[in-house]
Amino acid sequence: MDNQLFTPFTLPVSGVTLPNRLALAPMTTYSSTEDGTITAGEVEFLRRRAAGGLGTIITAACYVERIGQGFVGQWGCDDDRHLPSLRQVAAAVRAEGAVALLQIHDAGRMSDPAVVPAPRAPSAVPAARPNALTPRAMGEDEIHASIAAFAAAARRAMQAGYHGVEIHGANTYLLQQFFSPHSNRRDDEWGGDLERRMRYPLAVARAVRAAVGRQAVVGYRFSPEETEEPGITLDDTLVLLDRLAALELDYLHISLWDYTAGSLRNPVDLRRRTPLVVEQLRGRVPLMAVGAIETPEQALLPLTDSADLVALGRVALCEPEWPAKVRAGQAADLRLALPPVNGDQICTLPRPLYERIVSRPGWVKIAAE
Ligand SMILES: Cc1cc2nc3c(=O)[nH]c(=O)nc-3n(C[C@H](O)[C@H](O)[C@H](O)COP(=O)(O)O)c2cc1C
Repeated sequence: MDNQLFTPFTLPVSGVTLPNRLALAPMTTYSSTEDGTITAGEVEFLRRRAAGGLGTIITAACYVERIGQGFVGQWGCDDDRHLPSLRQVAAAVRAEGAVALLQIHDAGRMSDPAVVPAPRAPSAVPAARPNALTPRAMGEDEIHASIAAFAAAARRAMQAGYHGVEIHGANTYLLQQFFSPHSNRRDDEWGGDLERRMRYPLAVARAVRAAVGRQAVVGYRFSPEETEEPGITLDDTLVLLDRLAALELDYLHISLWDYTAGSLRNPVDLRRRTPLVVEQLRGRVPLMAVGAIETPEQALLPLTDSADLVALGRVALCEPEWPAKVRAGQAADLRLALPPVNGDQICTLPRPLYERIVSRPGWVKIAAE
């Protein structure tokens, strides 16, 4: 099938050409060592997806400061000692002809207490989930240090041979926490009204671009809404996107669990989020979309909606050769669920990721025995 999914795409600021429209969605693998070093299984996991034809590989979220580590087994880009580790992935992905992007991340109040027992966040407000810790409100100096840490991590990514970075501004983590009226109750220049709630994410985006120059790819992932009350509405997000579109970003990445879903906040609003975002962006910056895409027909829908790029997450865990098979006209042979036995070996999944998947039924499909 030689269709729109396989046409190259040149990013507007960096001028980097992505070989096709398909990206590996960023996926945490819980498999790095305690000091944040990547393991061989993770390198192989990413290498195989690049070899399978995904033109862009976005890595798992990588913490930019230890205090912002989100998960056990997350890898780090907070220090130059991680350069050898970071290089391994960039080299493996490039060797397969794909574009390598490091996702840079800070979890803020969403850190796993097992790794960060005393987290910090915009305000001392716990997340709306069971047993959430109450974080400490960040001081002004910490906010500046955090922005600088994102910039330093992006610089490190370029030193390690990546084509660029994706700033993780989605999924309830620190950037989103500054933007959200639930987690940001500040009344200083970093919070109080929409304008000031946008200040930190915009400052991170500017600092990252300034750190890496125009040759590097800089993308930004965002969640269009959140369920908390008060919480981010689509209208808030459209304002943020206007501001982001004025910065020199190569793409924006809308984070969705189901591409076809309507509003998270308003059950009667069934309109897909992506066309609303496309309308707001008016072609100023390319858009990547994601969410429960399994078949080639489903992958074409975002492009039909005038998004430019499509990310595959869970289906690429099950089917590392998704693009190669689709391109060869073998869509009927796509594996849309993990095999019930030896799924980690067959699909090249790091063991800790596989164990998490098995322990959380319904998260990633597993075929019946
Ligand atoms: C195992 C797993 C780990 C994930 N880790 C991340 C991550 O590190 N960063 C991120 O932005 N999203 C993460 N996500 C969300 C995915 O990038 C994607 O948005 C989501 O899985 C929906 O796409 P899909 O239906 O194609 O899987 C993760 C999802 C899964 C299943």
